[in-house]
Amino acid sequence: KDLFSAAVRGSKELRSLAMHELERIGNPDQAVEYPETCYELPTVYAWLGSSAKTVQDLRDVLDSLTIPSDEPTLENAVLAGKLAMISSEILEALKYVQFTEPYEDTPYCGFIPDKTLREFGVAFVDDTIPGAAVLTGTASDIDELIKIVRDLQSKGILIFAAGNIADQLRDKNVQMGAKLMLFPTGPGTQIIHAINFAIRAALSFGAIGRGCEEELVDYLSKRPKVFVLSFGEIDEIAAAAAMAAVINKAAVITDQDVDEIPGVLAQSNSSKMVQAAIELRDIIVNLAPVDIPVAYGPAFEGESIRKPDTYLEAGGSSKTAVFELLRMRGEAEVEDGRITLIGKDVSEFEEGSATSLAILVDVYGKKMQEDFESVLERRIHLFLNFAQGIWHTGQRNLNWIRLSKDAVSSGVSLRHFGNILITKLKEEFSSIVSRVQVTIITDEEEVRRRLPEALERYAARDARLAGLTDESVDRFFTCGLCSSFAPGHICIIMPERLGLCGAINWLDAKAAQEIDPHGPNQIILKNEVIDSEKGQWSGVNDAVYEGSNHKLERVNTYSMMEDPMTSCGCFEVIIGMTSDMQAVFAVNREYGGMTPVGMKFSTLAGSVGGGKQTPGFMGIGRKYLVSRKFIPADGGFLRIAWMPKDLKESMREQLQERAEELGVPDFVDKIADETITTDTEGLINWMTEVNHPALSMLPLL
Ligand code: SF4
Ligand code: NI
Ligand code: NI
Repeated sequence: KDLFSAAVRGSKELRSLAMHELERIGNPDQAVEYPETCYELPTVYAWLGSSAKTVQDLRDVLDSLTIPSDEPTLENAVLAGKLAMISSEILEALKYVQFTEPYEDTPYCGFIPDKTLREFGVAFVDDTIPGAAVLTGTASDIDELIKIVRDLQSKGILIFAAGNIADQLRDKNVQMGAKLMLFPTGPGTQIIHAINFAIRAALSFGAIGRGCEEELVDYLSKRPKVFVLSFGEIDEIAAAAAMAAVINKAAVITDQDVDEIPGVLAQSNSSKMVQAAIELRDIIVNLAPVDIPVAYGPAFEGESIRKPDTYLEAGGSSKTAVFELLRMRGEAEVEDGRITLIGKDVSEFEEGSATSLAILVDVYGKKMQEDFESVLERRIHLFLNFAQGIWHTGQRNLNWIRLSKDAVSSGVSLRHFGNILITKLKEEFSSIVSRVQVTIITDEEEVRRRLPEALERYAARDARLAGLTDESVDRFFTCGLCSSFAPGHICIIMPERLGLCGAINWLDAKAAQEIDPHGPNQIILKNEVIDSEKGQWSGVNDAVYEGSNHKLERVNTYSMMEDPMTSCGCFEVIIGMTSDMQAVFAVNREYGGMTPVGMKFSTLAGSVGGGKQTPGFMGIGRKYLVSRKFIPADGGFLRIAWMPKDLKESMREQLQERAEELGVPDFVDKIADETITTDTEGLINWMTEVNHPALSMLPLL
């Protein structure tokens, strides 16, 4: 079949549809845009560089995109891809002109906002997500389709379900959504939401400029590694969409018998499509296979298991005795690979039971340190969650675990927890851990007998952690993980200030440095104190100078106003000074509303990120808000006058503790939120009304 001519016809059809819809809107000045993005219509922004945003502008854009003839040549096919891409983008964006949430009552995701894209940031950069697959068309064999999806998920590949695939998966109760790394983009032109996602990844992580077509295409040929698996008959519209994917450097694999053209490969055996795509795009899958009877990968981290689907659970609402503990032990006490089960295994429980459960992990390694126990122990959560049908939340003796009926019928047993933990701990911590053994206990008496030892260990760790202050250590750590997409950004990780992504604290960095001395975390010896109040050390300055490619000479780690730390893009929270310069507001990524400085998180993020110093604003990890070293040079914790309600509530206990420590026990309720005000004046009035402590401080500027 001739894909070229089909694509040319399909793209022209899409153009007339888009033109027709533009006419229908009527008003030529009507703005056309997506919500929550700083890239307007991303394909127009990236490919054409024009800032077309009105009905009239977009008509002009469509008029300018012509295909000189119907000849089935490569040149015409490329033009067809471009025309199909832009037309689809316009058609989709127009839905947002007519409805605020056009996909609200549908199973489809619609346009994926920038903030969701950014949440995948580090995962894209460090290749936790090695690629992205766009599934489209209609699969003839649904079981085979599900196998393909599970296979992709086990490899950590992000999935977009376009065409009829989302519906087919939904019929089989496959869970979808951002958390599951599976976006149900849906049929027709909705495939553009996968394409503009990849394009925005290049724009934001690769810092590609507006209209820089060459750089864009070059970046997309390297990452994110996108491929399309096209199932079933390819009609004209699908052929045009395939060309749109091809010009964005995605490889297209079809199960149909078509003439192969550059970028399109035919593979009639659908079970071989994934492998073909992986080879074509040079995707490197880092995940070591774990020997369990269900799929395993980051996609299952966000999977939830409802009570009626649960075969066996432990802890949480079932209130059984549970705990998990990772201990460093002597060489003779750890037999590598050994899995011991004390008590019953899953098969001996009745469906719907609850059990006591202790997970004891013993590790030995020459370079292992007691300090790393908590770092490794925290990974139990992630490692177990990666298994399909195993759900884990919480930690220590407050964990909660569910095993799904499906997983149990596939043969998953509690012993498999051992397989998972042994494989993953040795994979991820290979240089500090050489032996791992796991003991699983379901016998209630035995769990209770061992619980006190666990509680003792937790308490000892907490005491050690509380004693870890910026003063008590001789070294900090850098984190340069994000510098590949925010050049010049370097995080300084200190005991009392974690990385701005919230994922890396001082102990994590210390462990990571030990594991990989040439990795992203490097030791900073503090050396000479330059300013103890502002938190400036010569050692830190040297590290920042190197890390910023000699652009920055100093950083004050305790200030947001003067030479603050730089930000990449993955901050959990942005803090900034209020318009009257009297107070500080904080806004978390999840909050989509307005802040009292007249900017939303997404707008603020655009100006704070990118490895720059932006005095007056700064990206931080949320825990830093309650640190004793929270911008002491700018007035500290008591400067905070506004934060979204959800953020406040989720941290209430810690905020309260910190307020009491500072002798202002009623402070937390003096912090305004969006239910009180979202503008400057409202905030000033509120602060006066409650006599906010920041009012008696000197202005920030
Ligand atoms: Fe990126 Fe900083 Fe987090 Fe490291 S600590 S991953 S540099 S945000
Ligand atoms: Ni970052
Ligand atoms: Ni980051």
